[in-house]
Amino acid sequence: MRHLGLTVAAAAVAAALCGCGKSSTTSSDQSQASQPSATSASSQPAEPTPEQKKQAVAQLPAPYNTGDLDNGEAKFAVCKSCHTLAPGGPDMTGPNLGGLFGRKVATKAGYAYSDPLKAQSFTWDAAHLDTWLTDPKAMVPNTKMTFPGFKDPKDRIDVIAYLKAETSPHS
Ligand code: HEC
Repeated sequence: MRHLGLTVAAAAVAAALCGCGKSSTTSSDQSQASQPSATSASSQPAEPTPEQKKQAVAQLPAPYNTGDLDNGEAKFAVCKSCHTLAPGGPDMTGPNLGGLFGRKVATKAGYAYSDPLKAQSFTWDAAHLDTWLTDPKAMVPNTKMTFPGFKDPKDRIDVIAYLKAETSPHS
């Protein structure tokens, strides 16, 4: 039954391509993600695999490398109305956060940052994100980001791990 074998193989390929599981967050934005030329190496901004996410999180210093991605995803719900995460994703009220780690603050091309944020010169890493997400206004007064901050340190750790998992470039 050569025909049946092919059908099974095709179904397996379809399942592998689907990458189902957690595609609900940003996949609807992929239509706009085909434009950036900086990431020509990967033909499509596919969702990173669980293994790639783990590897990305493992690169963080303690305690962020122990972050709980499920809680991070749940807590990121409050950020979602303003930010997309996948590299190459669209800007919304806030800039797309793809490639955030290691990027100088306020330098996502094409996004109109406020002057106070542009006046900063640090590079985003776990420690800076922790301060930012504790109280953005205290870290940099008068930016355009209206978010009061996470009071629970564990929520910040988990969201930072989730950010690392979702914004890191992968191939
Ligand atoms: C109401 C909309 C809104 C919400 C909610 C929000 N942000 Fe933002 N965010 C912004 C805006 C607007 C900016 C740009 C600020 C500026 O230019 O002054 C920004 C900037 C940032 C930056 C700096 C980006 C860069 O390129 O330097 C990070 C990181 C960030 N937000 C993370 C988060 C996270 C994580 C959350 C959830 C805990 C969150 N934001 C919630 C609107 C929002």
